[in-house]
Amino acid sequence: MTKKIVFFIGSLRKDSYNKKVAEAFSSLLPDGYESVFVKMDDLPFYNEDLETPENVPAEWTRFRNEVNELDGVVFVTPEYNRSVPAVLKNALDVGSRPYGHSVWDNKPGLVVTASPGGIGGFGANHHLRQSLVFLNIPTLQQPEAYIGNIANLVDEEGHIVEGTMSFLQTILDAYLDFSKKLND
Ligand SMILES: Cc1cc2nc3c(=O)[nH]c(=O)nc-3n(C[C@H](O)[C@H](O)[C@H](O)COP(=O)(O)O)c2cc1C
Repeated sequence: MTKKIVFFIGSLRKDSYNKKVAEAFSSLLPDGYESVFVKMDDLPFYNEDLETPENVPAEWTRFRNEVNELDGVVFVTPEYNRSVPAVLKNALDVGSRPYGHSVWDNKPGLVVTASPGGIGGFGANHHLRQSLVFLNIPTLQQPEAYIGNIANLVDEEGHIVEGTMSFLQTILDAYLDFSKKLND
């Protein structure tokens, strides 16, 4: 059966570098895998007061149902102020509730950060991992994926350059291998 891998992009920007990286990963998926992009920017901010059958926002329910169906979760995100962009953190929070019904539990995870800066979003990468530990998303540890100087790794047509594509392939292969071992 085809495995569905979701790509969560921590940037809402139309020309986002992280979006280009996520699309590049998606293009490298082998047969037997399908990429899915789940909408996060319409999710109302998490508020426990809304967690009742009459009040739960339709967007939260849609998001939870969609993520529940998926086999693996890949986060491709910029770093905002040395941490995780709010849109992504909010999505993690929405998916984690109601208590005992988290959509994240045991889904194999991959964290990739890309930045025009030299340290490749290291702070966001590790802040995100802190939440993933608690959410019980087993996450690939090695190789790590901090993509620095991303502005220089995209050509004039907006494609990721060859050397970086082969790095993405290495990361993806390790992730799919890791996921398979978890499911054995
Ligand atoms: C609010 C804000 C905070 C930022 N903080 C950081 C940061 O801590 N580290 C970093 O490397 N870049 C930071 N940047 C720059 C982003 O890495 C850059 O805008 C990048 O292109 C965003 O990713 P995107 O191209 O996928 O939208 C920040 C940008 C914004 C808008």
